[in-house]
Amino acid sequence: MGLFTGKNGIILGVANERSIARGIAEVLHHEGARLGFNFLPDDRGRMEARVKKAVSHLNPALIHPCNVNRDEDVTAFFSAAQDALGSIDFLVHSIAFAPVEEIRKPTLAVSREGFLTAMEASVYSFIITSREATSRMGETGAILTLSYYGGEKVVEGYNLMGVAKSALDCSVKYLANELGPRNIRVNAISAGPVKTLAASGIGGFGKMLDYNASVAPLRRNVSTQEIGKAASFLLSEMSSGITGEILHVDCGYNVMGAFRY
Ligand SMILES: NC(=O)c1ccc[n+]([C@@H]2O[C@H](COP(=O)([O-])OP(=O)(O)OC[C@H]3O[C@@H](n4cnc5c(N)ncnc54)[C@H](O)[C@@H]3O)[C@@H](O)[C@H]2O)c1
Repeated sequence: MGLFTGKNGIILGVANERSIARGIAEVLHHEGARLGFNFLPDDRGRMEARVKKAVSHLNPALIHPCNVNRDEDVTAFFSAAQDALGSIDFLVHSIAFAPVEEIRKPTLAVSREGFLTAMEASVYSFIITSREATSRMGETGAILTLSYYGGEKVVEGYNLMGVAKSALDCSVKYLANELGPRNIRVNAISAGPVKTLAASGIGGFGKMLDYNASVAPLRRNVSTQEIGKAASFLLSEMSSGITGEILHVDCGYNVMGAFRY
């Protein structure tokens, strides 16, 4: 019997085989979870095809469109999730977006529109999907989102996304406090850099990967499988006393102060 046998969960944010959400989904599926997925709708149905290809081996109970920037999409998605899964035991939110040109600007030069877009897709999406998911949870539940160290400390090139991740980290803590009395836990994983579609928008990402691997105590970068294992811990009863936590899964990079010269 797996850690998630008999449990139903929603995974938001698989784009392809490289997505962190895919790595998480594989571990949860291996542990017995029944999963529902979204895809970001586009005119040609390309995202739908990519997501289907990435998760078909996980026997998905649902693959449904949802642009998290549209209230009506979010409502329809969770209604379809309820029809397909019944009650929801956990939610994984693995979504972020900001226009590339806005991330590549100095933070001082970010436009109002770019700022609002980043905050809407990367932070408000966490709040609205948590609201919809928790209204379908029973006596316990767990929520997990994906953050990055650039929301705590300055990481050159991360810029606007760092501001958004900081707001996301703070949202984790406020939601943890509000949902704690219902025995719903809310946590984040602060993942080390992984080469994904979203990461390609970050300036100098290749160099960041090399640098992290050279500085981190484990002297390498993290895999999506490892992020998945930590996710399964935070979503399961194994972490029943943990909420409001930002867990670093980054090969130890965040503990370093002075580096090797
Ligand atoms: N890759 C990294 O180095 C890294 C490190 C730490 C944290 N993260 C975070 O992990 C999460 C997942 O990113 P990833 O690296 O796996 O990249 P990814 O590109 O595979 O996933 C990002 C997902 O967000 C979805 N998305 C964006 N806007 C959306 C919208 N309006 N509606 C619905 N879906 C939308 C995309 O479709 C995609 O599935 C993000 O929050 C990211 O910031 C990534």
